[in-house]
Amino acid sequence: MRTPILAANWKMNLSRREAKNLVEDLLKAAYPVSGREVVLCPSFHLLTEVGAALQGRANYFLAAQNVYWKESGAYTGELSPAMLRDCGCTHVIIGHSERRAYFHETDKDCHSKVEAAMQNNLVPILCVGESLEQREADKTREVVLAQLQGALKGQSLSSGDRLVIAYEPIWAIGTGKTDTPEGAEQTISVLRQEVATMFGERIAQQVRLLYGGSVKADNIDSLMACTNIDGALVGGASLKADGFARIVNYQAQASLAN
Ligand code: 13P
Repeated sequence: MRTPILAANWKMNLSRREAKNLVEDLLKAAYPVSGREVVLCPSFHLLTEVGAALQGRANYFLAAQNVYWKESGAYTGELSPAMLRDCGCTHVIIGHSERRAYFHETDKDCHSKVEAAMQNNLVPILCVGESLEQREADKTREVVLAQLQGALKGQSLSSGDRLVIAYEPIWAIGTGKTDTPEGAEQTISVLRQEVATMFGERIAQQVRLLYGGSVKADNIDSLMACTNIDGALVGGASLKADGFARIVNYQAQASLAN
């Protein structure tokens, strides 16, 4: 059984005070949690304080939104995996479509970042997803598989719980347009099959695969009912304590997509 993950990607939002209030309100509304993991992904300036607020909170984890693959040195503006660990991070988002689009991150960069994260005992949350144009050209499968292979080829992975993959169709991010549970399930099961081809069936059954793209309180239950969807990576709706608490406290429904 894979433990579901509800991850909050705050992106470039929130002051220290806003973050403090959000974490306090979230913990009031969604703690304790059992049988699921919650990962908060604040921007860099909030990591230490959010990490401190999560200390001793079972099943809550801290993630960064980016990492550089070098250990140290003259790389102005970058943070190493060891620095993220030093802030209390256990996870790190890699290859978000916003980083690929605005900061020109390539699959090769993602490969280096995944490798460095894993070597430093950080769990990568590797993001893949197609644009609207690619989807309309029926290229979803091809695009996400190329991103997955580009970032993971040749990586050594002894246990599937050390890797998380998030399928985030770009056209669904911040648009209010969610993929249907059936559509998300279909692409995510293709990704799981590819993980099985690359790393074997045992690991593929352990890797958590998340859906991201306009996840909200009112669509989380149906997404979580899908067999291969092990959680969500949430942007906008994670910035409000009550909405994200409802996502964390999603109601398991009878499985839709067996
Ligand atoms: P939204 O939930 O705002 O669509 O963002 C999704 C996302 O990009 C999470 O990483």
